[in-house]
Amino acid sequence: MGILIINIKTLLQVEDQPKKWVSGKDMNTLPNIENAFLLLEDELITDFGSMNSAPEHHTHEVIDATGKIVLPTWCDSHTHVVYAGNREQEFVDRINGLSYEEIAIRGGGILNSAKRLQEASEETLYEQSAARLEEVMKLGTGAIEIKSGYGLTTEAELKILRVAKRLNQNYPVTIKTTFLGAHALPLDYKDNKAGYMDLVINDMLPKVASEELAEYVDIFCEKGYFDLEDTKQLLEAAKEYNLIPKIHVNQFNAFGGVGLGVKYNALSVDHLEELNEEDIEALKGSNTMAVALPSCSYFLSIPYTPARRIIDAGLPIAIATDFNPGSTPSGNMNFVVSTACIKMKMTPEEAINAATINGAYAMGLSETHGSICKGKKANIMITKEVPSYNYLPYSFGENCIEQVYIEGKSIS
Ligand code: NIG
Ligand code: FE
Repeated sequence: MGILIINIKTLLQVEDQPKKWVSGKDMNTLPNIENAFLLLEDELITDFGSMNSAPEHHTHEVIDATGKIVLPTWCDSHTHVVYAGNREQEFVDRINGLSYEEIAIRGGGILNSAKRLQEASEETLYEQSAARLEEVMKLGTGAIEIKSGYGLTTEAELKILRVAKRLNQNYPVTIKTTFLGAHALPLDYKDNKAGYMDLVINDMLPKVASEELAEYVDIFCEKGYFDLEDTKQLLEAAKEYNLIPKIHVNQFNAFGGVGLGVKYNALSVDHLEELNEEDIEALKGSNTMAVALPSCSYFLSIPYTPARRIIDAGLPIAIATDFNPGSTPSGNMNFVVSTACIKMKMTPEEAINAATINGAYAMGLSETHGSICKGKKANIMITKEVPSYNYLPYSFGENCIEQVYIEGKSIS
C-alpha cells in the first residue's frame, strides 16, 4: 500500500528525467502541474500527473491536499550540525561591539566550540545533534551534508564523523559527510601551522578514509586560517583517498580559492560573499557548484553572496544553511529560501531550484533527490493552504510546512 496525494493545488519541481542541475536563465523556471496527484510507494515516488489521470481503483492511503502545494524536500548541502553546546555568549559580545574576527583571536569562535566538543562524550554529542536533525527534518530538510571541523584533534574529528554516520543509520534523511579537519588552528599548534597540516594530512585523513567516515574533504581557505598553499597540499593528499573537495572559500576575502577549488574538481565552493570576476570566470564550464549561505550573512551582518551575478553569468547556484554554533545557529531552509529572495534578489523559482535540485547536486544526490521524478526518493513536503508558491518565501518566519515525508515516512 502506498500513499496517494490527491487534489494538489500545485505540484512543484516535477521532471521526467533526472537532471544534473539548473543554471543561468533556466533557474527562473520551476516546472509544475496544477491540480495534480502524487503516488509514493515504499521509499520512492512512483507516479504523478494531472488529477484527471489519477489512479481510481486502489488500496492506497489517500491524502487530500486541496489548496496546498507539494514540493520536494530541501537539500541542505552545507552544515556543521554535529556540534556541542552553543555560543550564545559570543552572540551577545558581538551585539556589544566585538567583531567575529576579534572574538576568534581571543580564543572564542571555532576554538571555543572545539573545546566543548572535545569535552563532550560521543553519546551527548549524538543526542544534541539528533535533536537538531529532528527539528530540521520537521522543517522540510530531507537530505543534508554534515562536516566535521569542531574537533581539531584526531580523536574528536573522528567522533564527529562517527556521530554523523550513526545519525544516517538511525534517521530516514540522507546524510553526506565531509572531513573538515582544517577548520582552524588549535591552540597547541598556534605557531605551528605546518605541524597541524601534517596531523590533518598524515594522521586524520588516513583514519577518516580507512573507517570510510567521509566522502568529501573541506578546508577553511581564508586569511588568518588556511591559505592557498595549505589548500593545495590538502586537496592533493585527499586525491589519494578519493575524497572530493567541497570547500569554504571567499567568506571574507577573495584571493583565488575558487579557481583552486575548480582546478581540483571541487563538487562545490561555498560562502562566496566576496566574489571577483576571476572567480566567476573560473566557475564557467566547470562541474563545481557555487553555494551561498544567506543565513550566515544575515547572522554575521556580512555581505550576501552576489547570486544575481552568478546566475546572470549563466552559472548554477545552490543555497544552504551552514547550520553551526558560531555563524549560523539555524538549520531552517525555509528562512534560507526567503532570505535568498529578500536579500539576494533571487526569484522564488530561482531560490526553490537552488534549495532543491542544485542543493542535491552539491551533495552528489541529483539522481535521487531534489525533484519530483519517478524513481527518486519519496521525499516531499505538503504546505498548508497558501495562495501560490510565491507565498512561501514571502511569508518569512511563518512555518508553511504542514507535513513532511522522507523516504515515504511521515515526519512529525
Ligand atoms: O561556515 N567559516 C567557517 N566556518 C563556519 C563557522 C565557524 C564558527 O564560527 O564556528 C562557517 O561559517
Ligand atoms: Fe560552514
